Amino acid sequence: MLSTPTRQLALQGAAVILVLSLAWPYYGWQAEAMPWQQTSLAIGAVALALAAISRQPWWWRVMHALFMPLVWVTYHLAIDPGWFLLAFVLLLLVYRGALSGQVPLYLSNRETVAALDELLASEEAESFLDLGAGLGSTVVPLADRWPERRFTGVENAPLTWLAGRFLCIGRPNLSWRLGDLWQMPLHEQAVVYAFLSPTPMAQLWEKAKAEMKPGSLLVSNSFPIPGVNPEFVIDVPCSPPRPLYCYRV
Ligand SMILES: C[S@@+](CC[C@H](N)C(=O)[O-])C[C@H]1O[C@@H](n2cnc3c(N)ncnc32)[C@H](O)[C@@H]1O
Repeated sequence: MLSTPTRQLALQGAAVILVLSLAWPYYGWQAEAMPWQQTSLAIGAVALALAAISRQPWWWRVMHALFMPLVWVTYHLAIDPGWFLLAFVLLLLVYRGALSGQVPLYLSNRETVAALDELLASEEAESFLDLGAGLGSTVVPLADRWPERRFTGVENAPLTWLAGRFLCIGRPNLSWRLGDLWQMPLHEQAVVYAFLSPTPMAQLWEKAKAEMKPGSLLVSNSFPIPGVNPEFVIDVPCSPPRPLYCYRV
């Protein structure tokens, strides 16, 4: 089975090849220049049809329909290519996790942090680790709230990590690390928090079972571990719903 990025690339590629393999010989035969505006619209329409036939989620259909027409529009804006390179590098520095493990950056909200705060009060947990800590939106307020407990955040996107590094300044109970969450040892953590995506959850559970001490808690924001019953679920009062699935190891 193809991964999502490969499938979408294949879909858009199929639309490009289909339209160009008809349009190029036709306009070549007529000795006319290719009408790129109409061609890009045709590619968008074919890509949309292919995405609908293969039942892609709606947001992929919109992206397929708009991609080539927007390439055409952007080309006509005659923007210096250096800006694209800069935008690409910046996106890579922030969204590295989306590329390597399908885990993009989006932040825990205040209601979730309040629920985690209550959980820490009831668990009396000495240590808390955020796997994929983003900008530190969970560990920074929690470290302030519980100065006698140890907090750790690990983040692999360099620019995100750097922004978080500044936000962590002046908090001796907070360790802020640049690194891969899969390399992070879990055995010293009483509570491990993860707000990732559905993709890595089964693998994360294997890691938690192998490394976390019995009795410690794995908390997953929004994404349950497939086939495993949580010990309890915290219904965070927010919209869209962001339940906290809590698994006792
Ligand atoms: C959904 S965000 C959650 C951010 C933060 N935990 C919060 O709740 O506000 C997921 C974060 O995990 C990071 N990430 C993805 N894969 C990672 C990996 N392999 N190692 C470390 N961080 C990763 C992403 O860069 C992103 O910042």
